[in-house]
Amino acid sequence: MTQHLSIDGLDHHYGSAQSLRAVSMAMADGECLALLGRNGAGKTTLLRCIAGLLRPTAGQMLLDGQEIGAWPSFRRSRGGIGYVPQGREIFADLSVGENLMVSMKAHGVRDPAVLEEVCALFPVLRTMWRRRGGDLSGGQQQQLAIGRALMGRPRLLLLDEPTEGIQPSIVKSIEAVIASLKGRMSILLVEQYYDFARSLADRYVVLNRGAVVAAGLGAEMDRDDVSRFLSI
Ligand SMILES: Nc1ncnc2c1ncn2[C@@H]1O[C@H](COP(=O)(O)OP(=O)(O)O)[C@@H](O)[C@H]1O
Ligand SMILES: [Mg+2]
Repeated sequence: MTQHLSIDGLDHHYGSAQSLRAVSMAMADGECLALLGRNGAGKTTLLRCIAGLLRPTAGQMLLDGQEIGAWPSFRRSRGGIGYVPQGREIFADLSVGENLMVSMKAHGVRDPAVLEEVCALFPVLRTMWRRRGGDLSGGQQQQLAIGRALMGRPRLLLLDEPTEGIQPSIVKSIEAVIASLKGRMSILLVEQYYDFARSLADRYVVLNRGAVVAAGLGAEMDRDDVSRFLSI
């Protein structure tokens, strides 16, 4: 079976400092993979390599069997890779509506139904339509950041710590949305919170100092086994 995403022997360096070491992993179509590891393990670096924002120093990345290592980031996003960065990075000075429409344009999506789909998932975005992105709460900004990525109708969604710094009630609603996206697209979820990852992941991979040190089925993810690689 062709994997949806397949990564083989990926290295990355920041100058002389090696941040990824021979990382290999694969994701099947529609699968949710949790990527775990403590701060500085290389999770964000890996996601940025997949999104085309950083250039690996060695290794291969295949999307549906096609080598994408040389593709610039815009081609990867048009090719179906949606990226929700850590810290959200929405446009603070644009309204909620503008943030969504800019993303729709950037992805070359013309079907207006996509906006209905995103607002159905996150009703708060419609309520806050004219509000400045920078004036939203952290949880609302996270919903906007995910909504913005979904405007491109991704087939692979990269989520970098979607619950970081967000109040528990919103964490629950973000978890429910991600659960509802499962199966409709493949999801690579970076998450520090064990319970959140455990409830969503079909499989998990643990990174430590840039290398894969553990992997397995979500249902068999053991708190003690995984926790020794996590900071919390
Ligand atoms: N822009 C950068 N320049 C130099 N080193 C960096 C940069 N970004 C991250 N690093 C280093 O790379 C390693 C991996 O970082 P990162 O991928 O952000 O880890 P994580 O997301 O797992 O917390 C860390 O040692 C970090 O200090
Ligand atoms: Mg990170």
